[in-house]
Formats: sequence, structure tokens, C-alpha cells
Amino acid sequence: MKIGIIGSGIVGQTLGSALADRGEDVALGTRSPDRLGDKRGWGKSLDDWLRGVEHRARIVSFPDAAAHGEVVINATPGTVSLEALALCGTGNLRGKILIDVANPLDFSAGMPPVLTVSNRDSLGEQIQRAFPDVKVVKALNTVTAQLMVNPAQVAGGEHDLFICGDDERARKEVAQLLEQWFGWRNVIDLGDITNARGTEMLLPLWVRLYSMLGTPMFNFRVVR
Ligand SMILES: NC(=O)c1ccc[n+]([C@@H]2O[C@H](COP(=O)([O-])OP(=O)(O)OC[C@H]3O[C@@H](n4cnc5c(N)ncnc54)[C@H](OP(=O)(O)O)[C@@H]3O)[C@@H](O)[C@H]2O)c1
Repeated sequence: MKIGIIGSGIVGQTLGSALADRGEDVALGTRSPDRLGDKRGWGKSLDDWLRGVEHRARIVSFPDAAAHGEVVINATPGTVSLEALALCGTGNLRGKILIDVANPLDFSAGMPPVLTVSNRDSLGEQIQRAFPDVKVVKALNTVTAQLMVNPAQVAGGEHDLFICGDDERARKEVAQLLEQWFGWRNVIDLGDITNARGTEMLLPLWVRLYSMLGTPMFNFRVVR
């Protein structure tokens, strides 16, 4: 499957290598495909990233990544996601599933970060309103990048992933893709995109748990 990833940091790189290594056709998007030697946030330089990917992957501009993807992934900071997606060009995203893994966290005053939108709105909804022809599915935003692509690393994979979005078929397709791609067995479909409020508001708790546990390799499990 052709996958376009918008965002070249640790999340874009981790998703991109895992998908490319299982044979998907990945285009990783950056605003600066001409500066492959620059280190990217918590990730590597894109030169190093390309060297580490076993199979086919390419580095392209945001619009080219969006145009390439049958499914597109938003892996940009939530504070700039609307700008980043606008750079992709509406036509390149139209009609597609956009898996939104971003969190609207503002780190400008240091740790812990604060949510820039919460309770009555969410980043997922903002993206859906700005791009009404896109099928936004919020997913993977409540786990660290390494766990996104390998849930079995914690408790043998027996923990839960939340997804939501307005298009029911798109939610079902994303749940299937996440199982096929990474082995996510327990996907909880929360319903429409307003449920992104809840999954994004988990982040202050997630950040606190990270600092208490000393590792990002944990997740939530809902028991009944
Ligand atoms: N870290 C995790 O494990 C984790 C887990 C769950 C969810 N998330 C969420 O995943 C998202 C990505 O995280 P990350 O750490 O990989 O991202 P990051 O390194 O902070 O973001 C990198 C990407 O954002 C682009 N960017 C930066 N400023 C921009 C602007 N003003 N306009 C347009 N694009 C801009 C960069 O462009 P260039 O390519 O040109 O540099 C780059 O592609 C975040 O929303 C984060 O909250 C992270």
C-alpha cells in the first residue's frame, strides 16, 4: 500500500521504517527534503534514516507525501498540524484516510507540556473541520512511537488502542490496518471524532506516568 507520512521526526521515522520494512510503499514528508543531513527532533537525520530502512522508502516534500499516500499519516506537532496539512494541499488529501497521531501539546513553558485545546474541542476535530473531504481517524496518539509499531513489546500486546473518527468505514479500515501492520489486537472504536477530546486529554496523565515510571513503554488496558 502507498503510505504518505507528513512529518519527519521520531514518530514519522519510526512509523515509516516499520511500514517500509514490511513492504509498504512509504513516502516520508518533510519541508526540507534538500537537508537530509540535519538531525530531526528526537529522530535521526534523514540520511541515517534512509540507510536504516531495509526496503523501499523515499523522502519527499509534504505535498508529494500527501499525493503519494492512499493512506496519509499526520505525524507533526499538534501546535502546527493545521499549517503542515495546509502545506500538503487540499487536493492531495481529498477523499483519503488521514491517520492523526498528533497531540496538541505546547512545550514552550517546559515540562509538563500543556494542551492547547481540550474539553470542548480537540485537534482531531480541528483537522476534520479544516479538511472536510478527508476521513480523519485519530489513532496511536496515546502510545510512544516504539510501541505504536510493536505493541507486543509491552504485556505481550494485551493492552488497548483507542481510535475515533466520523467515518465508520474508515475507522474499521484503520483498525484492520493497525492489526495487519503492527499487530494491534485490541482496538477500541470510540465512535465519532469528538472522542478525540478524550484521547488527547489522556496526554497529561500519560506524561505524568512517563515521569513516574521512568519509561515510555507502557499503555492503558480497559478491563470489564
Ligand atoms: N514521540 C512520541 O513517541 C509520540 C507518541 C504519540 C504521539 N506523538 C505525537 O506525534 C507527533 C509527531 O511527534 P514527533 O516528535 O515525531 O514530531 P516533531 O519532531 O516535533 O515534528 C517534526 C515534523 O514537524 C514539522 N514541522 C515543524 N514545525 C513546523 C511548522 N511550523 N509547520 C509545518 N511543519 C512543521 C517538521 O518539518 P521538517 O520535516 O521540515 O523538519 C517535521 O516534519 C506530535 O504531535 C506528537 O505529540 C508523539
